[in-house]
Amino acid sequence: MEIKLDYTNMMADVAGEHGIREEELETLADRIGTIHRDLMDRREKGSLPVYDLPFDREQVEEVRSLADSLAERFDNLVVLGIGGSALGTIAVSRALGPFHHNLCDAQGRNGRPRLFVLDNVDPVGVGETLEILEPQRTCFLVISKSGSTVETMSQFMVAQHWVREQVADAWRDHFVLLTDPTSGPLRKLAREEGFRSCTIPEKVGGRFTVLTPVSLLPLAATGIDIEGLLAGAAAMADQVTRPGLADNPAYLNAALQYLAYGKGLKISVLMPYSDRLRDVADWFRQLWAESLGKKFSLSGDVVHVGPTPVRALGTTDQHSQVQLYMEGPADKVVTFVAVENYGRQVAIPSFPEAPELDYLAGHSLNELIASERQATALALTQNGRPNCTLSLPAVTPEAVGALLYMLEIQTLVAGGLFQINPLDQPGVEEGKKFTHALMGRAGFEDKKAEFDAFEKGVKRRSI
Ligand code: PA5
Repeated sequence: MEIKLDYTNMMADVAGEHGIREEELETLADRIGTIHRDLMDRREKGSLPVYDLPFDREQVEEVRSLADSLAERFDNLVVLGIGGSALGTIAVSRALGPFHHNLCDAQGRNGRPRLFVLDNVDPVGVGETLEILEPQRTCFLVISKSGSTVETMSQFMVAQHWVREQVADAWRDHFVLLTDPTSGPLRKLAREEGFRSCTIPEKVGGRFTVLTPVSLLPLAATGIDIEGLLAGAAAMADQVTRPGLADNPAYLNAALQYLAYGKGLKISVLMPYSDRLRDVADWFRQLWAESLGKKFSLSGDVVHVGPTPVRALGTTDQHSQVQLYMEGPADKVVTFVAVENYGRQVAIPSFPEAPELDYLAGHSLNELIASERQATALALTQNGRPNCTLSLPAVTPEAVGALLYMLEIQTLVAGGLFQINPLDQPGVEEGKKFTHALMGRAGFEDKKAEFDAFEKGVKRRSI
């Protein structure tokens, strides 16, 4: 179940002036060696538990029994959470669940609940989701590492009111809280109000939680093979802990992306040719952006670095984005994700009344999607636009687990290359403070005054 990284089209001898030269890769080998030793050292000391998540049997046991009891009792699971508390679940459930899971009847879902992930506070999204659900048959997973995220807490407040109106005393049974093991308002509520709860391991930040109960619980409850997912990640762990740049796909891909960034290719497109993998690109977008987009370097210098991740979908975005990738500014590197075996074959039959389409008849959609990917890669390369391809043998739990794990480690290594801390996100704090101020939270009066002063002083321009 190996994932292959084909980086031929990243190289200067193939893709031209924006490509990477062998010697540039070679000169990074020493730095990669240093970053490797640092990561392994931190893993050893327990400060990077993300490495060990695939091997954590305890969390699997905890998740499994809770998931089964939720699946028995409820028809609908609603994840309340945002960012890292939501995107992994969306990505993996789309990749590995029945393609139209929520549209299937109970039998089509193998008796498992439907899954809704409310990763926003849009009144329409929240309101219309609740409207189609039956409170008696619905369970909410309230997921927040900090236990205080304004969006998630507001969703929780709306949901508890909605459930309480219908089920009175037993309303607490309709909620499971997933949060930090010891701290935060959600943990306090779990302790004091007797909600069922699960722990999000300490020192695993939101966007690195896809292999923790954050995603494992909703995924297992809806029938996804979490053992396979973790086994795939565990198998990938062997590869992405190899010290050498040339043997380690996470290190190599981080190095390629880093060198491309240095050549002005600051936009990094992830483009799976698979509807199932569409939201893996969305998950990665957050992982790459929030981890690598930083103002300060590790030594405190102002650097303002970070590649801009873009998600695209093949073939759909060939008719939306590829014109730009081909002829627009040479500022992008495209990573295609190929699937060798889709697990389903759809033949293109003949259509006697349309002889001009004869060239397609007898082929399959499988051949077409693969040909379009190869054609786009070649066209980009010939146009001097570097690109590479990650190939999955099939979209299985093992392959998806391996891919996610590889991209997580790639992100840690890229953090080392960019010399920033990939585990924090200080840039989102200021906006959060203004939000608290606008919502009238005590302690944020100064921020409210600052906001009002700005509004008063600025000349608004709009038409
Ligand atoms: O990666 C991160 O840390 C963030 O995207 C968080 O996941 C997001 O802000 C939600 O935070 P929390 O889980 O504390 O509610």
